Amino acid sequence: MTDENAKQSPNQPLSTEPYKGVRDFYPEDMFVQNHIFGAMRSAVESFGFLEYGASILEPTELYKAKSGEEIVNDQTYSFKDRGDRDVTLRPEMTPTITRMIAARRRELSTPIRWYSIPNLFRYEKPQRGRLREHFQLNVDLFGVENINAEIEVVSVAAAIMKKFGAKDDQYIIRVNSRKILNYLLNEVLKLDTEKAYKAMKLIDRKDKMPKDEFKTQADDLIGSKSHIFISLLNATSIDDFKKRSMDEASSDIMGVEELANLLDTLKKLGINNAIFDPTLARGFDYYTGIVFEVYDTDARNPRALFGGGRFDDLLSVFGTDKLPAVGFGMGDVGINNFLETHNLLPEYAPKTKLAICTIGQGIDIAAFEFASKLRTHGVSVAIDATDRKAGQKIQAAVKQSIPYVTFIGEKELASKTFTIKELETGGETICSGEQDIIDFIKK
Ligand code: HAM
Repeated sequence: MTDENAKQSPNQPLSTEPYKGVRDFYPEDMFVQNHIFGAMRSAVESFGFLEYGASILEPTELYKAKSGEEIVNDQTYSFKDRGDRDVTLRPEMTPTITRMIAARRRELSTPIRWYSIPNLFRYEKPQRGRLREHFQLNVDLFGVENINAEIEVVSVAAAIMKKFGAKDDQYIIRVNSRKILNYLLNEVLKLDTEKAYKAMKLIDRKDKMPKDEFKTQADDLIGSKSHIFISLLNATSIDDFKKRSMDEASSDIMGVEELANLLDTLKKLGINNAIFDPTLARGFDYYTGIVFEVYDTDARNPRALFGGGRFDDLLSVFGTDKLPAVGFGMGDVGINNFLETHNLLPEYAPKTKLAICTIGQGIDIAAFEFASKLRTHGVSVAIDATDRKAGQKIQAAVKQSIPYVTFIGEKELASKTFTIKELETGGETICSGEQDIIDFIKK
């Protein structure tokens, strides 16, 4: 196997591999990418979200403010520019959209519904579902303080999955609340700020470690009350969680009713695959309320497809007034695996509909003119004016999945009679003049 990062000796040819953990997109890959982005766009735009964009470069300090230690210290691509400024390739979009909204805080009227599909860079160990560059749909709603924001944003997530043709039992929406976790850590377990932070990170890693190790780490961190912590995190439903909190800690836990209300309303809206998961913490520090993640129910894709939640305080790092916010990110890598696993990807079909192959010498200009007329009527036409044999021209069109081919020479141009061959069936249709071709291909 070639190591794409190994130093090349001067006489060796350059590697054709892309940089570790990033992808090249050949036309077939772009077709899939465009299908994915198209479904995302149409679902989110149907809820009134508007597209925005920004540069991949951001000042490093933007992420120091609130993204969390792991992402800033271990996962960013950061460098100094020639003016000695610290620069980072964006690892996520949330700080950027918040910066943009803070910059126009007074002019923008709320609710603000914005979306974007940026490429993001994280220095992670490349593995199934996780790469060093991915594209991530970001959907964020600013200015709605109550649970209606969460209802809407989770509904958008479900609408996207529906647009992809996913059935309810193929994915699950796990929901929790930072309010519940904070109340448990600060009020019930009475952990100081540092320990509470560490406990939150431990919850975030729970599913990635063996049970015994989780218990050992919980005991070390929390001491004699760690059984309460473990018991509550093992709750299987909201009612079970409430019961355990009364039994173990004689306490109601703040945030539980809000979550119950969310799940209830989602059910009424026909979203039946949302469940309470007390172990869902989310890695970023900026979440303040409900958090959620979407998972494939097929074990081949164990990583989250979407992740998001409420982040009401992030604007304050820019010195502007607070603005409530709820949103999520959905990566292209995970959804691609999901669609492949559940056979939901369309068959490759390029936009090119017709290959015009020239016969003989000296008719190139006529072929270009002919093609140009078809293009003005919205037919995508590729010309093959090489002097290869007819069979080779047909083979090339087949390989490129172009559905129709026609050969034109002086005879065809003079008689305005063209034979259009359908490559999949081998069937032939005679067309008289351009309009006839256009009507036939567009039918
Ligand atoms: P996140 O959980 O880090 O959240 O990422 C959201 C989604 O992006 C993940 O569920 C996953 O599908 C995808 N993703 C993340 N990292 C990678 C990677 N290295 N390779 C492939 N896919 C990846 C955020 O980024 C938040 N800023 C989302 C958000 C928006 N919260 C509020 N608004």
